[in-house]
Amino acid sequence: MDTRQPLVGGNWKMNTTEDEALELARAVIDACDADLAQQCDVCLFPPFTWLSQVGHAASDTPVLIGAQDVSDKASGAYTGQISAQMLLDTGCTMTLIGHSERRHGLGEPDSLLNSKVHQAIDQGLQVMLCVGEQLAQREAGRSEEVVANQVLAGLDGVLKEDLSRMSVAYEPVWAIGTGRTASPEDAQTMHQRIRAELERQYDAPSASGIRIVYGGSVKPSNADEIFAQPDVDGGLIGGASLDAGGFIEIVRAAASSAAS
Ligand code: PGA
Repeated sequence: MDTRQPLVGGNWKMNTTEDEALELARAVIDACDADLAQQCDVCLFPPFTWLSQVGHAASDTPVLIGAQDVSDKASGAYTGQISAQMLLDTGCTMTLIGHSERRHGLGEPDSLLNSKVHQAIDQGLQVMLCVGEQLAQREAGRSEEVVANQVLAGLDGVLKEDLSRMSVAYEPVWAIGTGRTASPEDAQTMHQRIRAELERQYDAPSASGIRIVYGGSVKPSNADEIFAQPDVDGGLIGGASLDAGGFIEIVRAAASSAAS
């Protein structure tokens, strides 16, 4: 049994009205009692506009609040961008970086994602770096090479002592929001490869300490088998995180995978 505490994130994407966001956050916070929180870290990633309200609702609770993205700049003339310090002011402690809907959807290159990682870490945020191959890359047998390169490029220049601020989300692009999930074995193979890459780049203790979560159509019905894999340390949940009951079932699955 490993000692990594599972981590489950709820990525709400561009969903929820203000009322819906608060209702959803409160339902998750109420269900996430101290017992559950001791076995699994839970982080909600609401849209920027509700971060303060959700951050306020979650203050003094074990539920963490994260942002879906962060600027690579500290401050200044960057219209529309949100800085790490602004996120910290709302109660955020974590941010996603490189989600495929930005990496592929908006064309954010590895170099930009790497500067976001540095900016977020320097300002004191935790980072969940999202990586994942597209369908054509998988079909060409290039998944592992593509994902390993994304991990190394995203972490370029990150010091070993800062790795404790990092987690990685492996999200095959073809599985996001499609209902298709990687098989538990495919997820394990990729997570193991990512960990091996981290070991090569840093060292074995650093690699074995970092959490690598899986994302892509995780739901209550498939969470158990995915989280049972030894190198899968939880999940990043999109669609299924918009239902508090289902999301908490997924959190319970991650908690019991660590206990077993
Ligand atoms: P999904 O999204 O669970 O709806 O597939 C996961 C994600 O994009 O983080």
